[in-house]
Amino acid sequence: MADTQDDIKKGLAGVTVDYTAISKVNPETNSLLYRGYPVQELAATQSFEAVALLLWNGDLPTEPERAEFETFERANRDLDDDIKTVIDLLPLDAHPMDVVRTAVSALGASAADVADNSPSADLAKAKLLFAKIPAMVAYDQRRRRGQGLVPPREDLDYSRNFLWMTFGEEPVDVVAEAFNVSMILYAEHSFNASTFTARVITSTTADLYSAVVGAIGALKGALHGGANEAVMHIFDEIGSAERVAGWLDDALANKRKIMGFGHRVYKKGDSRVPTMKAALDTLVAHYGADELAALYDELETAFVARKGIYPNLDYPSGPAYHLIGFDTLTFTPLFVAARVTGWTAHIMEQTASNALIRPLSAYNGPDERHVEGYVASE
Ligand code: ACO
Repeated sequence: MADTQDDIKKGLAGVTVDYTAISKVNPETNSLLYRGYPVQELAATQSFEAVALLLWNGDLPTEPERAEFETFERANRDLDDDIKTVIDLLPLDAHPMDVVRTAVSALGASAADVADNSPSADLAKAKLLFAKIPAMVAYDQRRRRGQGLVPPREDLDYSRNFLWMTFGEEPVDVVAEAFNVSMILYAEHSFNASTFTARVITSTTADLYSAVVGAIGALKGALHGGANEAVMHIFDEIGSAERVAGWLDDALANKRKIMGFGHRVYKKGDSRVPTMKAALDTLVAHYGADELAALYDELETAFVARKGIYPNLDYPSGPAYHLIGFDTLTFTPLFVAARVTGWTAHIMEQTASNALIRPLSAYNGPDERHVEGYVASE
């Protein structure tokens, strides 16, 4: 039992709780490996579909494996009528994270194999969620804009189809490629808060859908996935590069956290940021978004100079999603669509060598006391 302050690892900071073969984060060398491959190499050469198979299976797919998965994924993108009905029941001002959480939960509640936690059943569920979540996210953004559902197109890859279903237009290559890079970079990151949540739920032998629903809840918070949305709120608040210095003075004086900066593990910079920043630069050039780029650079320079705290992945991805045309509230559900690959890989890894996750706590409440008038029966 922990009974001294030194025994308490607040926020589990610095605690290693298990092995994982899925990804390796090395803050000293600023590197991130998925199943041994540097994430930058994957982002430069692979589709998100191939990276999903890498995370689930341990190796990059062979050509037949890739083709088989893509055929499945393209055939299962439709938003089922019952899930559409569930989404339609939710208020238009519901947060999109609540919408995707509810839609995934509804999918699980009606899945015949929900209680089957065998490796083959869990892999099938992971692939189904991969295929279905984009339609949930795209439809929710459209209905909030008063637009109807755009059916998926089987002739488009994952990223192009996701953008097609959201905007009703086929994206140009530069946009589809930047989006694909963002999905790969967001896919996996060891024992982050949402992945750990999924592993805790899995450790009780609850089903994969329950674990993913819990992970979505954990991702929503602004200290985790919600930061990509929060970055854009900050940009809106600041308005222009000239206003950064004054805004930052006020924010720091009021002890505000600057969203999109800092990381529990990386203290010298997030390994994913240079790749996502390069993708953002291609979008800035494509859309002619020089003012946004100036604000981005000014805030980064000023904050790093003041605090020595570097941007995390949410800093470049928030503005990238804004330029592509997503509503700010939709940014974190895009993170869900990507991270569902990592979550489900961890769920399967947890099940394969399970131990119930149940840490201890140190009690600091009142000493033992008794209800007035209570007399113990003999
Ligand atoms: N803005 C201002 N100050 C910060 C920031 C920030 N973004 N990040 C850390 N600090 C400061 C803290 O105020 C604290 O200062 P203090 O020691 O004077 O009190 C010190 O740096 C340590 O910060 P902690 O929050 O204790 O460090 P921790 O490792 O727990 O935090 C976290 C990591 C939660 C991500 C933090 O940096 C943060 O809140 N960042 C903003 C939210 C964000 O961008 N989250 C995205 C995470 S990455 C992802 O999900 C892809």
